[in-house]
Amino acid sequence: MKGIVLAGGLGTRLLPLTKVTNKHLLPVYDRPMIYYPIQALVNAGVKEILLVTGGNNAGDFLRLLGNGKEFGLKHLDYTYQEGEGGIADALRLAEYFADGEPICVVLGDNIIEGNIVKAAQAFRDQKEGAKILLKQVEDPQRFGVPVLNGKQVVRIEEKPARPQSSYAVTGIYFYDARVFSIIKTLKPSGRGELEITDVNNAYIEAGQLTWDLLDGWWTDAGTIESLHRANQLVAKTGANKMTGVEG
Ligand code: G1P
Repeated sequence: MKGIVLAGGLGTRLLPLTKVTNKHLLPVYDRPMIYYPIQALVNAGVKEILLVTGGNNAGDFLRLLGNGKEFGLKHLDYTYQEGEGGIADALRLAEYFADGEPICVVLGDNIIEGNIVKAAQAFRDQKEGAKILLKQVEDPQRFGVPVLNGKQVVRIEEKPARPQSSYAVTGIYFYDARVFSIIKTLKPSGRGELEITDVNNAYIEAGQLTWDLLDGWWTDAGTIESLHRANQLVAKTGANKMTGVEG
């Protein structure tokens, strides 16, 4: 399985913090935000990783991460997203890198306490389709929200005014190679973006989407409030404990 970290966008919800830098380079406790999604993939045994960046200061990622030596990687791939086409548009750029293999996609502003080892293994065994990870949250209207019928995800609604469940679709996704042909069929949403939620709904329609609950705490860090919470959670847990890196 190959890993893809999506770290583009203008981070407008974090202005003025993102006026002169990329959101994913901002500190979360004692390290830049981008360290956490990369470490989550490495902890799940993923060794080939592509970073999709864009917007401001893309070159700084190379200066910060190099070939990923700090994470025990031999090599790190990079690509650049022109414009602000959304998460699925950024993922489109990973087609050549994935080269037909299954992928694990992690949004660059998602931070987890635990690991995704079990889910990654389950998806390796699943072999085709997609898998998402859900987490119960207090403010589901900020996220993709699953509509559940018993244990079945019937559809996912993106930032619904009236959420049909109290779960968020976290920004950790597993896909087979078909994801790239699905992206080619997407139309921009109301906010002018290709939505990852539409990708997941296409897998649901094909009867090929599974889900698990994510263990431990989870947060995004894309708003002032959630970035503050991310800092507090990491500080409380201990960044080294979370990432498995001895300080
Ligand atoms: C994105 C997705 C949303 C998902 C969230 C997780 O939202 O569109 O479905 O729940 O990431 O962090 P965005 O950060 O673009 O608002």
